[in-house]
Amino acid sequence: MEIIIKKDALEGSCAAARVVARLIHEKPNAVLGLATGSTPLLLYKELIRLHNEEGFDFSRVRTFNLDEYIGLSVDHEQSYRRFMNENLFEYINIKRENTHVPDGMAEDVPTACAAYEQAIADAGGIDLQVLGIGSDGHVGFNEPTSSFASRTRIKTLTRQTVADNARFFDGDESKVPHHCITMGIGTIMDARMNLMLAFGANKAEAVAATVEGPVASIMPASILQHHPAAKLFIDEAAASQLKLAEYYRWVYDGKPDWQKDA
Ligand code: F6R
Repeated sequence: MEIIIKKDALEGSCAAARVVARLIHEKPNAVLGLATGSTPLLLYKELIRLHNEEGFDFSRVRTFNLDEYIGLSVDHEQSYRRFMNENLFEYINIKRENTHVPDGMAEDVPTACAAYEQAIADAGGIDLQVLGIGSDGHVGFNEPTSSFASRTRIKTLTRQTVADNARFFDGDESKVPHHCITMGIGTIMDARMNLMLAFGANKAEAVAATVEGPVASIMPASILQHHPAAKLFIDEAAASQLKLAEYYRWVYDGKPDWQKDA
């Protein structure tokens, strides 16, 4: 895993955006896996800026989102489909039919999950997956003890995740759905590249366990240690519990520029 420590979330997000931009430049019909939540907002802002100011072209890009709450319709203000529309898709020239978010209103959830996996496979697999991390170490909504072999399926959120996400639901935990559809850890590990972003002190413990702890399903993100092309973009606060932080800085600072965005 490559650890990239930046001064703050803005610098970390812009560095991550350069990796996304380079991929799309090299492969205009790239398949992106996308995340929601607070973490990727600055990354999406930077992609929008690249589109507006540098004419970056998303017309052939295809996307698959990690997850969606069960029971929230696409127009619910906290649905992840709406989040993606309002924070990225409406501001770039992506074709809406090329964007995919699991259907939180599916009547037959197992069939919808299998179809989602099939759609990813039909697109040729995910080239680059954007990930956040939960304070409990979840990726997508694969909560602690999720199977490392899991595929897209229904999951139950932990109480900690419900509490963390209540800030999006007027601070009211009772409004947060308990169930979701999420890509599995196996799905995420199949992506050809994984970019994880984590900012803020409340992610420091999970980041340290992910990078320097044992690979264990109790810390789902730790599976990225087994991924051949995983990059972790973090700010100083999220890096604060890493034992080898100085080494990661030394490695990154010593790289030639062309390799930093690869
Ligand atoms: C969102 C997702 C989650 C979030 C994680 C962190 O699509 O899959 O794993 O990335 O819960 O959320 P934030 O960024 O809000 O701290």
